[in-house]
Amino acid sequence: MLEIIEEHLKAISLVKIKTKEESESFRISYLGKKGILQALFSEFKTVKPEDKKATGAALNTLKKAAENALLIDISDTKINKNHNQEDYTRPGYSNLPGAQHPISLVRNEIVKIFERMGFVTTEGPEIEDDWHNFSALNFPLEHPARDMQDTFFLSKDPDWALRTHTSSVQVRTMEEQTPPIRIIAPGRVFRNEAISSRSHCVFHQVEGLYIDKGVSFADLKQTLLAFSKSFFGEKTEIRLRPSYFPFTEPSAEMDIWWGLENEVDHRMTKGTGWLEIMGCGMVDPAVLESCGIDSKEFTGFAFGMGIERIAMQRFQIPDIRAFYENDLRFLANFKGA
Ligand code: PHE
Repeated sequence: MLEIIEEHLKAISLVKIKTKEESESFRISYLGKKGILQALFSEFKTVKPEDKKATGAALNTLKKAAENALLIDISDTKINKNHNQEDYTRPGYSNLPGAQHPISLVRNEIVKIFERMGFVTTEGPEIEDDWHNFSALNFPLEHPARDMQDTFFLSKDPDWALRTHTSSVQVRTMEEQTPPIRIIAPGRVFRNEAISSRSHCVFHQVEGLYIDKGVSFADLKQTLLAFSKSFFGEKTEIRLRPSYFPFTEPSAEMDIWWGLENEVDHRMTKGTGWLEIMGCGMVDPAVLESCGIDSKEFTGFAFGMGIERIAMQRFQIPDIRAFYENDLRFLANFKGA
């Protein structure tokens, strides 16, 4: 058997394969299922034990030689595939652009409009004490007005809670600054409320505060009208409804016209067509005094609006929960907005 192997080795060393076809027929005759090597390996079983070692080695050499004689088609080897990836003439991969969250888009736009009117952006902490969130804002202890905003309480002593509104930033600002004061304070607020398509336990507000000599309700109304026209468009209609807040007197609720055409409109506006955008009013003299501002010398107005409501109106989003689910199919809609 060794001689036969030797002969094949010699034959292979003389073979010169030039084409794919030659390579394939050579492969079939030597390495195929019914090829020479297969036959030799079957015959190997009959080789005498003392010859097995030498014959086995020779067989392996023959197999290697047959494999090496094949034409290597470089077009589908690994090396060639890697090489292709390093082809610097290929078009590059583009980066996937992200999108700003609709809440950020709307907040930035609101803030920009008020900055143009001379308001300065301010921020306050999300964890507040009772004084800044309630007492200084004229919510008497044990007064039912505190129930207007279901609170997430954190501790009794010190009396910390998650702020229920950005009005706490009014207090911090009045304590630190002297009039004239003109601030806008965007931020996140928290209320222990049932989650539905219209309300959530975490949401965002933008607070405004203007204090100077002789500030009137007419100034408040004109400021809000100017904002609404700038934000929602020249034709925007607003209405002010009398309301109640402990820290403003008189108080009002400002609505904008949303429309009342379909089921979503009915749900969004509780069947009125008007969408409640913000609370507002003249700063109660008791609040000015609590914060060390002379209420005989100064008057002021304040307002606080919910960013989600406005974003829902702007982007026609029928369910507030969409803002917090981080569903990429939703967020991708705001690319380039
Ligand atoms: N803080 C009030 C709220 O959260 C809104 C408001 C702000 C009302 C300022 C009047 C003045 O509902």
